[in-house]
Amino acid sequence: MFGRWTLWVSLLVLVAAFFQLQNSPSAELPSYRMDKDLPAQEEDYKKMNRSCFILGATGESGSELLREIVKRQLFSKVTLISRRKLPFEDETYKDVVQEVVDFEKLDDYAAAFQGHDVGFCCLGTTKGKSGEAGFIRVDHDYVLKSAQLAKAGGCKHFSLESSRGADKGSSFLYLRVKGETEAEVGELEFERYSIYRPAMLLCDRKEARPMEWMAMKLLAPIAYTFPTAISVPVTTLVKAMVNNVVLQGDQKTELFENKAIHALGKLGGTKG
Ligand SMILES: NC(=O)c1ccc[n+]([C@@H]2O[C@H](COP(=O)([O-])OP(=O)(O)OC[C@H]3O[C@@H](n4cnc5c(N)ncnc54)[C@H](OP(=O)(O)O)[C@@H]3O)[C@@H](O)[C@H]2O)c1
Repeated sequence: MFGRWTLWVSLLVLVAAFFQLQNSPSAELPSYRMDKDLPAQEEDYKKMNRSCFILGATGESGSELLREIVKRQLFSKVTLISRRKLPFEDETYKDVVQEVVDFEKLDDYAAAFQGHDVGFCCLGTTKGKSGEAGFIRVDHDYVLKSAQLAKAGGCKHFSLESSRGADKGSSFLYLRVKGETEAEVGELEFERYSIYRPAMLLCDRKEARPMEWMAMKLLAPIAYTFPTAISVPVTTLVKAMVNNVVLQGDQKTELFENKAIHALGKLGGTKG
């Protein structure tokens, strides 16, 4: 009897928490120059002949971001900076430049980071995959060093895929490292710096991650009922990242929490 009550109360508390997350007022977007609609601004942006690089294009977010960028033909030059080359068979990717670097010796590859207007960083690993030190190395050291080289190479707008809950004061390693990385990249003073804090990414992950797969399956009904509370489709995230580049914001540093990512990813009718 007592057990059944506990279960119902816990369930109610959980539903209330998801409801609260879904309805939290954190979706404010920067006030963009909305004198023209998104397609018109996108056309203007293309005429600027900007170039970009993507870090992490071999991963789930990065590969989807590359697809979106190439589809929208936004940049005059797209460069991937990775530790391995992607084998493109599709003609659509024929102009994409690939720089293969050793992330342990990034200073030796400074040239790869030169001359890009915009940088996107979707790098990351997990503690489970790389251990604690390996996680810090990738999610902090590689990201920060890449950002430093990009800044020195002339990059004006840096976009960082971080994570919900990133907080440099957190006692959780993952959130602390994400928060520290956000803050230290911020100190580099890019002309424009956009931070994305997605919740659980909904994607069809190629790599086997049983725990993540199980969490995604278990949480699927909640993600369906409260779409912005605990998750974001990776397709929505990358549309948000691209839309934001096109829509010149009025803030030097922009921080997009999960709900704002949903809103931004759907601007201009670009469905997530
Ligand atoms: N998954 C989620 O639910 C979630 C939620 C919120 C935030 N995030 C964050 O979002 C970012 C992207 O996540 P994702 O799931 O799209 O990532 P992912 O699929 O695991 O891809 C990670 C990328 O980082 C590269 N990378 C990893 N370890 C590396 C190393 N030692 N040296 C060089 N490159 C390395 C990978 O290259 P290889 O292909 O060569 O391994 C890949 O391109 C991460 O920072 C993650 O923490 C993820």
